[in-house]
Amino acid sequence: MGKKITDKVTWVGKVDWELKSFHGKEYSTRRGSSYNSYLIQDEKIVLIDTVWQPFDREFVSRLKQEIDINKIDYIIANHGEIDHSGALPELLREIPNTPVYCTAKGAQILKGHYHEDWNFVTVKTGDTLDIGKSKLIFVEAPMLHWPDSMFTYMTEDNILFSNDAFGQHYASESLYNENVDESELYEEAIKYYANILTPFSGLVTKKIHEVLGFNLPVDLICPSHGVIWKEKPTQIVTNYLEWANNYQENQITIIYDTMWNATRKMAEAIASGIHEIDPAVTIQLHNASKTDKNDIITDIFKSKAILVGSPTVNNGYLHSIGGLIEMVKGLKFKNKVAAAFGSYGWSGEVVKQLNEELEKCGFRVANQGHRSLWVPDEVEIETLRGFGKEFVSQM
Ligand code: FEO
Repeated sequence: MGKKITDKVTWVGKVDWELKSFHGKEYSTRRGSSYNSYLIQDEKIVLIDTVWQPFDREFVSRLKQEIDINKIDYIIANHGEIDHSGALPELLREIPNTPVYCTAKGAQILKGHYHEDWNFVTVKTGDTLDIGKSKLIFVEAPMLHWPDSMFTYMTEDNILFSNDAFGQHYASESLYNENVDESELYEEAIKYYANILTPFSGLVTKKIHEVLGFNLPVDLICPSHGVIWKEKPTQIVTNYLEWANNYQENQITIIYDTMWNATRKMAEAIASGIHEIDPAVTIQLHNASKTDKNDIITDIFKSKAILVGSPTVNNGYLHSIGGLIEMVKGLKFKNKVAAAFGSYGWSGEVVKQLNEELEKCGFRVANQGHRSLWVPDEVEIETLRGFGKEFVSQM
């Protein structure tokens, strides 16, 4: 059954409690997610977005319990990615001529996915659609996070349907932010920003200021994943502005992988040195082969500096570190310091390689890094503690 949000708007999405990964395996969703679809019943009937394809039949059948789908006047596709457009083929098989409102890029993307010549109506920022007492206003939001992304604003009810922006992968029976655990919700929202939106931070700031410039009242922000922002709805907008502005906390994250614990001992000694010289700084240590990669990315996002360590194996670094470096490269973090470390037995080129990669990732590399031959003894542990202290002074 759908859930009433206002007199005119009903949530008709799908909560996916079982979802444990998203974008293939690229994003861990330990708290599940939801695909939010919204049905507006004004003088005209409008459906905003659908759900992921595996739930298409369930979605259409539940939609039929809400309304005669032949009465749907307009479908709004804020974004063509399959988690929101996945039920369009099933729905449009039954109501094939219904206009699908989307951006020009959205029409291309939907055609590219489904190879159907639906009744597309392309819209631009500022275009409006009268649906009775309310009006829908479209705002293009290219690269937040796909070229086709857009927001739809509904007057009278003062709702911003923001699609992926302001979303969270967070399954909940409750619809609203005020009814869920606040710290869990914050964790999921910042993880979502760090792992998906970081590269587009400049555009995030610009778009938010553009939307704020319209001076439209906002009572609800209805994203396409997770809960609706109802209590202090613009708090997530404030968070986004902070996160988009080279966000960092007083935190240093140390990431390593290890074969026989030598590089782990190095990581712990460096952490101890950092703590001695700066007890206020939060230090996070992660073994990249054991900690969830998206949690590590979130910690990097929060950090003012990172250290990355790997032993030298076959003239290179361990694959967990390699995979993480590739993710970090794509996210284009700014204004952060980094350095490398690692144990070795003979060739030992990894520290230099890692520093080069960290520079390519956009970090300011603070020093030459540090390598330890075989397993660090007490003297070497002290040296590593000194390396940690020096790193702080170089930040
Ligand atoms: Fe939730 Fe970009 O799809």
